[in-house]
Amino acid sequence: MRSPQFIQLHQDDDAAARAELAAGLQAQPAHVAPKFLYDALGSRLFDAITELPEYYPTRTERAIFESHRAAIAEAVGRGRTLVDLGAGNCEKAAAWFHALAPRAYVAVDISVAYLRQTLATLQQRHPRLPMWGVGLDFSAALHLPSELAVGDSAGERLLFYPGSSIGNFTPAQALGFLRETRREARGGALLIGVDLVKARPLLERAYDDPLQVTAAFNRNLLRRLNTLLGTDAQVEDFEHVARYDEGLQRIEMHLQARRALRLRWPGGERQLSAGERIHTENSYKYTTTGFGALLAQAGYQDPRCWTDEQGWFAVFSAQAG
Ligand code: AVI
Repeated sequence: MRSPQFIQLHQDDDAAARAELAAGLQAQPAHVAPKFLYDALGSRLFDAITELPEYYPTRTERAIFESHRAAIAEAVGRGRTLVDLGAGNCEKAAAWFHALAPRAYVAVDISVAYLRQTLATLQQRHPRLPMWGVGLDFSAALHLPSELAVGDSAGERLLFYPGSSIGNFTPAQALGFLRETRREARGGALLIGVDLVKARPLLERAYDDPLQVTAAFNRNLLRRLNTLLGTDAQVEDFEHVARYDEGLQRIEMHLQARRALRLRWPGGERQLSAGERIHTENSYKYTTTGFGALLAQAGYQDPRCWTDEQGWFAVFSAQAG
């Protein structure tokens, strides 16, 4: 049996994180990058969100994959190296192993620590498949390590980016990221999940659920600020706000101060008036035409799109050319 190989490229830089958080809190309006939502608890809360009946993206994407597996596999090509961006527990990609027969599997996430156990278990189920775990913060830049270019994972790649995470980039960032995926595909293809524009109530309920799991996910950021930056934020002083901006086609998440308060940390502070907000995440929604145009702008060819019956979510394939 083979063993997975691991490459950790991302290194935590606490000083850089503190500088980024302080600059965001002191900006007008205050903001914190969404990557800080995902500590151990935040990642578990996000997993819980994906189980909520109101959060339709995960189950809708899964249903599209299941209904169209053969046609999608035909479009993206079998026998390529499958590169799983934001692999997490690797379950979504593993569901494709049979249909895609990849020549190698590369799981990319911010830390290989979590991937070690997952890939070891997956390797037992697929003893002959070469597997790599890569620790990389690809939200900053997507440069896969050159070690992957030798041996089993050389050749055309299929870049897999499910879950509509592309929506957490601005459209300009999304275009840059798509260009990077195209370069890394080496003449292969892209398979990507995209959340679609829809009626406001459906969107706002998905991001402000009655069980308040999304509120906990958002407010957990205050605990992270306290740990990383040394702020003195009280979770109960902030309310979770999720609003759809129709013009910008995005859900915005904010933490709204319930009263006038001052956040203090070593070397800085930020005064917030009652009702003032810290912007914590954008989740852009696309039309199928709009996303097709973005793929074309990134240089992709031959886009194909599958959606659910309600037209809530789309899965796109495209050729890197
Ligand atoms: C990870 N990402 C695609 C989620 C989204 O829908 O934008 C993050 C999320 N934020 C609140 N709920 C889910």
